[in-house]
Amino acid sequence: MRRRIVAGNWKMYTDLASATSLAEMIREGFNQSSSVDVLLCPPTPFLLPVGERLEGSGIALGAQNLYYKKEGAFTGEIAPQMLRSVGCTYAIVGHSERRTIFGESDYDVKMKVNAAIDHKLRPIICVGETEGEREEEMTYKVLNRQIREAFDGIFKEEATSCVVAYEPVWAIGTGKTATPEIAQEAHRFIRELLVSKYDQVTADNISILYGGSVKPTNAQELFAQPDIDGGLIGGASLSSQDFLTIIDAA
Ligand code: PGA
Repeated sequence: MRRRIVAGNWKMYTDLASATSLAEMIREGFNQSSSVDVLLCPPTPFLLPVGERLEGSGIALGAQNLYYKKEGAFTGEIAPQMLRSVGCTYAIVGHSERRTIFGESDYDVKMKVNAAIDHKLRPIICVGETEGEREEEMTYKVLNRQIREAFDGIFKEEATSCVVAYEPVWAIGTGKTATPEIAQEAHRFIRELLVSKYDQVTADNISILYGGSVKPTNAQELFAQPDIDGGLIGGASLSSQDFLTIIDAA
């Protein structure tokens, strides 16, 4: 059966000192016997030092992005193998900030998902509609396209190493959380898409996280929904106390 996962996405925040001390504080407060899989995604320059602080803690390390080529003249990009070599076992792919600010397409996302799997990195595939798309009742159309493209070329046996994060763009960093009912409806829809692409057993084994203004005050009711298997946490993951409370809620 699928696992509960809580991932901290630190985005472009922290510096070397605050990143390592945040990792240490989370490590200290984390109960190793927890049934929740926890990972931290610090900014790229801090992957190695944060990874060192997490060694033996049971907390995994994830990248916020990756490129899909093995190596080459791609100034500024980071190859999957490089991430593996500094201890990453997860990589966020297709975050809405990558899609909207940096112009990542569904094609890029698909290539990155495939590259991650080829290098034994578990992709956390982000999908979600914008406010305008929701108002125009395009939510399911958008989710359908994003999921179909992201899982294109992914075999059933590989699909369960993928994690999906439903992050309605209008809820990210805005303080507007989707209600548990709205989130559950989208999660259920995503699960059904995975059933139709693969089968029930496979779909039941893929963790689908919710992201978008998750806080200690709303985590519990979100995570109580049957198809919400944890969270991708931005702002609240920068406070060790808030992040640990959210892990407890999962
Ligand atoms: P937020 O970000 O929790 O700050 O809304 C979530 C995300 O972007 O992954």
